[in-house]
Amino acid sequence: MKRIGILTSGGDAPGMNAAIRAVTRTAIAAGMAVFGVRRGYAGLIAGDFIPLGARDVGGIIERGGTFLGSARSPAFMTEEGRRKAMAVVEANGLEALVVIGGNGSQTGAHHLSQMGLPVVGVASTIDNDLAGSEITIGVDTALNIALEAIDRLKTTAASHQRAFLVEVMGRDCGYLALMSGIAGGAEVVAIPEAPCDPETMARELRAAYDRGKSHAIAVVAEGAKHKASEIAAHFREHHERIGFELRVTSLGHVQRGGAPGAFDRLLASRLGAAAGDLLSQGKSGVLVGLIRGEITATPLSEVAGKKKPLDLRLLDLARLLAQ
Ligand code: F6P
Repeated sequence: MKRIGILTSGGDAPGMNAAIRAVTRTAIAAGMAVFGVRRGYAGLIAGDFIPLGARDVGGIIERGGTFLGSARSPAFMTEEGRRKAMAVVEANGLEALVVIGGNGSQTGAHHLSQMGLPVVGVASTIDNDLAGSEITIGVDTALNIALEAIDRLKTTAASHQRAFLVEVMGRDCGYLALMSGIAGGAEVVAIPEAPCDPETMARELRAAYDRGKSHAIAVVAEGAKHKASEIAAHFREHHERIGFELRVTSLGHVQRGGAPGAFDRLLASRLGAAAGDLLSQGKSGVLVGLIRGEITATPLSEVAGKKKPLDLRLLDLARLLAQ
């Protein structure tokens, strides 16, 4: 019986549990034995494995985070750490591995694949910056969390005629900020791919008031050139001249927590099942993702170390619709 491992790595994302469940049950149905690796690549190096049966992954589809745990493993980033991981994999008789995670995790998956281990990646990160999938597990839920915050802030902003800045996650990718800006009706969006300096932001927020708006919301990506704290300091320093106050809300890890929504449960179920199917057919060295509505398998070599570009036409749309 083929023995496979599953791990979740990097920042957790809502829907990872649904993906673990789908891989496990698909693999078991295909006659494989499944082992969960705790704490991502750190657990792989340490040989921290647990057998997973169909019942062990019951009651997790609705849970956020990852019940296997996740980690960012500095040891695995070294050649020596990866060799150690391979030795542990061989000693435990694991014949293949499913890696559920984002950019760094899939680069790790590619390394293991090059060292001879059959690996299938499952696209999962709230940042949506991973090549090989138009949308990754966790993005939709994270966006909805950002939207709920923006909607709530709008009501208090309107009551006080105040400007608000909402800082969202995304590392060095502006996807979450741009999409939550469009869907939340923000007046300004600042992302790493298109910097917006504090003075321009002040001008655009002022212009929103001048157009008769009762609120002015700026969504700023955590990776933007001018950080939320810098923008806030600029507004404080030039308060008299700018003429209004700016309140800052940083959503931080709140965006990664909580139950996955329907979209992420479905995406994770489809991608996880596809990963199990591929391994049962003896295929590996690929990342499963979603492109134009279809489940795809992209070689890990085309994914590792690559960043998916952001469609900047959507920034024009955000500006137009904020009028
Ligand atoms: O990659 C997902 C992510 O949530 C990024 O958006 C963020 O920059 C980072 O992880 C935070 O990492 P950590 O949880 O290690 O602080």
